[in-house]
Amino acid sequence: MPGTAILGAQWGDEGKGKITDMLASESDMVARFSGGDNAGHTVMVGEETFKLHLVPSGILYPNVMCVLGAGMVINPRSLLNELEDLSEKGIDVSARRLRLDGKAHLIFPYHIALDGASEFKLGSSAIGTTRRGIGPAYMDKAARRGIRAWDMLDITRFADRLRSEAQSRNIWLERVYDEKPLDVEAMVAEYSEYARRLAAYVDDVSVLLEQAYREGKKILYEGAQGVLLDIDHGTYPFVTSSFPTTGGILTGLGIGANRIDRVIGIVKAYQTRVGAGPMPTELKDAVGDVLVERGAEFGTTTGRRRRCGWLDLVALRYAVRLCGITELAITKLDVLTSLQPLKVCVAYRCGGRVLENFPSDTSILQACEPVYETVPGWTDDIRPMRSEAELPEPALAYLRMIEENCGAPVRIVSVGPKREQTIFRS
Ligand code: IMP
Repeated sequence: MPGTAILGAQWGDEGKGKITDMLASESDMVARFSGGDNAGHTVMVGEETFKLHLVPSGILYPNVMCVLGAGMVINPRSLLNELEDLSEKGIDVSARRLRLDGKAHLIFPYHIALDGASEFKLGSSAIGTTRRGIGPAYMDKAARRGIRAWDMLDITRFADRLRSEAQSRNIWLERVYDEKPLDVEAMVAEYSEYARRLAAYVDDVSVLLEQAYREGKKILYEGAQGVLLDIDHGTYPFVTSSFPTTGGILTGLGIGANRIDRVIGIVKAYQTRVGAGPMPTELKDAVGDVLVERGAEFGTTTGRRRRCGWLDLVALRYAVRLCGITELAITKLDVLTSLQPLKVCVAYRCGGRVLENFPSDTSILQACEPVYETVPGWTDDIRPMRSEAELPEPALAYLRMIEENCGAPVRIVSVGPKREQTIFRS
């Protein structure tokens, strides 16, 4: 099918990198549509490790074209650092391989400074952002004062706009947050140079995608973060500032709904979350520690320890509904090996009521207790298994339970970080 979307179906960090990388290698085009360098994944190719934050992993395959959509916020310095790093490792990162939509907004040092200052001021109520300036950049976009990639094509205008925005943000930093002002002229000089270097990449991604789709090319829409971090439908205010949902693909790339033929929801076999906000199945006990250690649950972008807990099917049913997920890929199933028994959250209990649907009021979610079903675990090492037939019956029953609860088939099961540690189900 020409248009395949990959979305994180939880709070991000579902292990999208590996599945995206596998599907990217079979695609003609890979498109990112939302977020910025708050995302991150590590891809291992042979002995080489690539840490990617903005550029889709499709860049590692010579015949794949990568595009960064209008819905993204781009830190020019991070993008250039990433491109330099890739180039040093022998990857062609010319404009032949990568394009940036002119409508994408840019992140500047004042966004990052404001992100940090705002988090500091919130104290114990902080969101726990990645401090990459994501929220303030989307704030500028919504306030209609953002600087976009198109603006990099006219350096004089770009410098004037940046100077004026930076000066006004310095007033905020000093008067609202009691922070030191940033050196505006140094910023203008540095970012004007970045603009010159990035200008060649600026294009109209919507046109490129439509052309590719009509030619029957395979397009992969690569999600970042996770559905539960969506600014509208996630656990607001403990969310990111973009749309990591199917809706976000459409607006973030400028394509029609009929250009998406398949939506794969990536689901970790258990639940994780970084940053603050409700997480009904969070485990603060030894089992939680086991999940952190075995699953290496530390963030790629910030190195923060992730909060871990049992799989939450209420949240997953919500993600499937919200995004029209047509199939699921379960990652890190091997991490659950030897945990006996396993628990899966099938509903919430709140104020004497049982809730089947994910509450849209975050304060209600905060008060929810998980209703668990206990299921048998398995002890066999599943990491060397390569087919469904080899999996132990409790592991298969676990997958069936997910399918029956969510109404979407599990097509891919990952049993380890390597590419070959993947089972495809019919
Ligand atoms: P921001 O996107 O940096 O503004 O952070 C807002 C919230 O989203 C915080 O709780 C972050 O931890 C979370 N977040 C942002 N990006 C990711 C991601 O790629 N994976 C997991 N959580 C993320």
